[in-house]
Amino acid sequence: MHLLAKGGRAVLPILYCATATESSVHVGTPVMAEPSTSTSGRQPSDATEDKHIAKLTEEQLGRNQELLERLRGKLILAPLTRGGNLPFRRLCADFGAEVTMSEMSFARHLLKGDPLERARLKRSANEACFGFQIATNNIGEGVGAGKMAIEAGASWLDLNCGCPIYEATKRGLGSALLRNPRKLARLVAGIAQGIDLPLTVKVRTGTSSSKINVQQVVSFLQDAGAAAVIVHGRTAEQRYKKPADWSLLTDVAQSHDVPVIGNGDILTYYEAQQRLNDSGCLTHMVGRGALIKPWIFQEVKEGRELNLDASERLGIYRRLVSHMKEHFGDDAKGRRKAFYFLPWHFDFFCRYRYLPEDVFRSSSQERPLIGQRMDIAAADLGEELDSLPLLERTLRCQSPDAHAEIAATLWDSSSDEEARAALEQLADQKLSEWENNDSDREEQVAEG
Ligand SMILES: Cc1cc2nc3c(=O)[nH]c(=O)nc-3n(C[C@H](O)[C@H](O)[C@H](O)COP(=O)(O)O)c2cc1C
Repeated sequence: MHLLAKGGRAVLPILYCATATESSVHVGTPVMAEPSTSTSGRQPSDATEDKHIAKLTEEQLGRNQELLERLRGKLILAPLTRGGNLPFRRLCADFGAEVTMSEMSFARHLLKGDPLERARLKRSANEACFGFQIATNNIGEGVGAGKMAIEAGASWLDLNCGCPIYEATKRGLGSALLRNPRKLARLVAGIAQGIDLPLTVKVRTGTSSSKINVQQVVSFLQDAGAAAVIVHGRTAEQRYKKPADWSLLTDVAQSHDVPVIGNGDILTYYEAQQRLNDSGCLTHMVGRGALIKPWIFQEVKEGRELNLDASERLGIYRRLVSHMKEHFGDDAKGRRKAFYFLPWHFDFFCRYRYLPEDVFRSSSQERPLIGQRMDIAAADLGEELDSLPLLERTLRCQSPDAHAEIAATLWDSSSDEEARAALEQLADQKLSEWENNDSDREEQVAEG
């Protein structure tokens, strides 16, 4: 049955081939169906109730399918506030990231013209497929932001339903939206119907361990016309202390027809491969793993761990500096802007360790490697602190003082060789002081 939308376009209620219960839906291609039927067996009791079921046009459905084909099997760079600045995303794309996402933008401020929020719309020329993420709980704001995303050349819009920070949740944004799945579905249906861009939704498994409702949320989002659902396998209150629940993620992916993108704890190509193969997800997403090693996209494509020594990594970090100079400006003002980000990145870069599959695969199956405590020298690789090269030891320092000085040195040097010599000279004077500060930092870094 065709319905007529406001603009006179033919619209079709979206439903997926599915049987009557949430737990037994089978995977199939999207089909059109009567609007009063639901994949989860829920029967809307009146006209107001079924506002959570989207009526997407054929064009909208076609665009959703096109996006899914572009995403299938590709490791996606997660939305990362602060970390996902444009120069960093460009660096990831240099290493083969084909799908990237913006930092979260507050739709209300974006629509009011806030320059910081507008800057988040901008993508680098090498970002081939770019998702723009917004925080909102209002259909009009979502539609308005969607229009701006189209003008900026984004490939899709994503609604943040996972942000745990109080600034967002106190305003009913981010993970607060998970509290009422039906209301969330109405919001998503309203935005999905109102924009000429696919809409994905990024969720967590629930707000807390006693309120895990991801199965129900994904069922509602499926009816609401989400092109895909990104699931970060943790609750909002969990932070990063416990491993992401890939077993729950697998259940969710396998019991819904709306494609699921799995997210949580990917650090090596073999963990990425295993998650993707075992879960039935459309594809997977990486956050902290990319912040630690932006070359993870190349590793996943090539199916091997790159063993990059300190000089090679220094060259990569200098490339980030060069992208920052181009983006923010190679002058005092540009430096001020860049230095909100650059030293911060070393909080993650310093966690890099070579993790060859033959040594680490079995322990990665017990606990994700990103959650394992790694000493400065990796005992599993036979490393000893005193025999680590000075530059290697310096780049592994967790001290914020070290990060500030490394960033300044890289910014000020005009070649890799000059940067290396300057850093070694600095380390000769300050390494022991920096290393003494390290222990206080561990907990903070682990929180991401
Ligand atoms: C520094 C940082 C910033 C983040 N910012 C966002 C954000 O803006 N929007 C969002 O949906 N998730 C954000 N996240 C969560 C990540 O997108 C991702 O879901 C989470 O880190 C789990 O993936 P991982 O285990 O690969 O890091 C952020 C995470 C980190 C570490």
